[in-house]
Amino acid sequence: MSEPVEPAKRYLIRTFGCQMNEHDSERIAGLFEADGMVAATDVEDADVVVLNTCCIRENADNKLYGTLGHLKSVKDRRPGMELVVSGCLAQKDQDGIRERAPYVDLVFGTHNVHQATELLHRSRTEGPLTSILTETVAADHELFPSAMPAHREHGHTAWVTIQIGCDNSCAFCIVPAVRGAEISRPFDRLVHEVAELAGAGVTEVTLLGQNVNSYGRDLTLAARQAGDDVRVRPLFADLLREVGAVDGIRRVRYTSPHPKDLRPETIAAMAETPAVCEHLHLPVQSGSDRVLAAMHRGYTAERYLEKLAAARAEIADLAVTTDIIVGFPGETDDDFERTLELAAAAEYDSAYTFIYSPRTGTEAAEMVDQFVPADVIAERFERLKVVLERSALAKHRGRIGRVEEVVVEGLSRKDQALTTGRTRQNKLVHFASADPLRVGTFAEVEVTDAAPHFLRGRLVEVTAAPRHRTRIPVAAG
Ligand code: SAH
Ligand code: SF4
Ligand code: F3S
Repeated sequence: MSEPVEPAKRYLIRTFGCQMNEHDSERIAGLFEADGMVAATDVEDADVVVLNTCCIRENADNKLYGTLGHLKSVKDRRPGMELVVSGCLAQKDQDGIRERAPYVDLVFGTHNVHQATELLHRSRTEGPLTSILTETVAADHELFPSAMPAHREHGHTAWVTIQIGCDNSCAFCIVPAVRGAEISRPFDRLVHEVAELAGAGVTEVTLLGQNVNSYGRDLTLAARQAGDDVRVRPLFADLLREVGAVDGIRRVRYTSPHPKDLRPETIAAMAETPAVCEHLHLPVQSGSDRVLAAMHRGYTAERYLEKLAAARAEIADLAVTTDIIVGFPGETDDDFERTLELAAAAEYDSAYTFIYSPRTGTEAAEMVDQFVPADVIAERFERLKVVLERSALAKHRGRIGRVEEVVVEGLSRKDQALTTGRTRQNKLVHFASADPLRVGTFAEVEVTDAAPHFLRGRLVEVTAAPRHRTRIPVAAG
């Protein structure tokens, strides 16, 4: 008689943050699967639940503890269930997580994603555990998120972390505190990884970093210090060109470039590399020079608009999106008027707007006496939204009648009779298709209608079937 085989443990990961955070979730899933676990479909049938947290959004901690409270009641019913908290809020609050929620089994941070399974095993034998590293070991590329096995949701598209951490010190931002100093992954490894992804059928990659335009600065410095004869070169622009030249890669996206570091070489590489999509996400944060200086952003509104104009002049059909914070401490009515002016002048395709929220440990969180009252912020927020939606709608209406290349993402969430795809400019298009189209299919769609946040269209023709298998369990070398 054979030994009874224990059923595989089922895991569920909930992601709260940005792409970097989602990417870490993919890595955690990949590590779990390499360890023999399988994905659960919902909390009720999960043995291990991971909350991969973010601390940028307002109320991030309230949301986390609310979710944990709910999970505790599930765990009370099913005592074998394991709760894990990872990500930026874990990095920030460390022991504080288990102090507030002692029923959590494991807490780990942003620098030890690669240890997810090892730590989980340890928490089973040693009891509840909090393990936070203060920095990533730079020399060991194996520790980079992308160098680990990945479980990807959509096989046709992949995120590739090119850089972790951030060397800037924007006064409002917690990221440098929770993600550490900037470290770039080696150029050749990245190109190799993208080639491997392409070999597995990936057609679209998004290069990720907090400040992608300074990609490689640390590598160049380290090589120079080691005495190598390294020429100074705009490594990010080179990377765009090389990744764009990988056989099978039809779309290259990236996020985020910092406006102060956006260089002409990057714009030229975007313009001259057909695979690089016509979309620039250029976070402005404010239109007031006074506020920009207080934020330590390193550019003025005028300089920002000049860079934007230069990008638009070189890159045909460029869509531009941004991030804006409303109510940074000390923001006056006059400052806010400048933001409205800039938003109108920049003619954005879309924008993420944030209500300023103090993050403990940042410079701006100390400026308590200058905090802007919530009702003033709310009113400004609404006014900004009107300006942004006006320009988004104008941009989108301008596309009616055009035939756009679209990559299918699945059925429309709102109307299952429609298929949703994404254009090169990163816009969602909903259209009808007589036959079901697989995720990752390339099609030509004529834009027939426009709204501020999406387009509607008519399928003209399917141009290419997806090349990926439905799932890629292990993608990186
Ligand atoms: N590295 C990127 C931004 C990453 S954070 C960059 O510099 O462009 C994403 C966005 O969150 C920021 O652009 C900013 O608009 C917003 N954000 C960050 N901290 C915030 C805070 N404390 N309050 C409100 N919004 C914030
Ligand atoms: Fe934060 Fe500024 Fe770094 Fe972006 S560039 S991650 S906003 S500190
Ligand atoms: Fe991202 Fe949030 Fe961390 S935006 S880097 S998950 S704080």
